[in-house]
Amino acid sequence: MTHQDELKQLVGQEAVKFIENNTIVGLGTGSTVKFMVDALGQRVKDEHLSIVGVPTSERTRKQANSLGIPTKGIDEVDHIDLTIDGADEVDQNFQGIKGGGGAHLWEKIVAINSHKNMWIVDESKMVDQLGAFPLPLEVIPYGSQQLFKRLENRGYKPEFRMKDGKYVTTDSNNHIIDLHLGRIEHPNELALELDQLTGVVEHGLFLNLVNTVIVGREDGPEVLH
Ligand code: 5RP
Repeated sequence: MTHQDELKQLVGQEAVKFIENNTIVGLGTGSTVKFMVDALGQRVKDEHLSIVGVPTSERTRKQANSLGIPTKGIDEVDHIDLTIDGADEVDQNFQGIKGGGGAHLWEKIVAINSHKNMWIVDESKMVDQLGAFPLPLEVIPYGSQQLFKRLENRGYKPEFRMKDGKYVTTDSNNHIIDLHLGRIEHPNELALELDQLTGVVEHGLFLNLVNTVIVGREDGPEVLH
């Protein structure tokens, strides 16, 4: 295991301590969350913890179910108590970029329907300013080449996310365009602009959604509120 993976595992294990019995828990997506779901599966097994998970991707749903964690879809629950997710960049005000794993549409839907949101990150994700990490957009395939040109004209340095020569497809059968912005000076203004772009289903700016961040540091996990 790499050192970064050790930090991810550490925050995953720390995060599940916040999960209470008989609650509904949003389960994020990504390599850090994978460690968290492993630790949650262990608690379900050892302590007979009774929870329902609401997964933010097919990947997470399969992992959770394989560990004996029951899951429901977002429209099968009336609320979510706490969602635990990873992030690609987080600033001091808990604003962040997500979607490195291409799941930010479902992740945002689950996040806005959660009473509390927690992010778990290794310390490399903490930044002074957002934007070095490419900002993902989930886009409708229809007309996406035209949308791409519009984004290019605005100077946003778009790039379709590809794998093995094919467009990456999300769980909602959309494509991903990553914006190579370098720095995001005004995240709220950019979010508003992207919200209004026809063809963009959701962007990876997660603003004012998170209450707690657990940061994996050399000397142990740091819980920030
Ligand atoms: C997926 C995400 C992930 O939470 C984010 O990419 C962090 O992933 P990882 O824990 O693998 O670094 O937003 O859409």
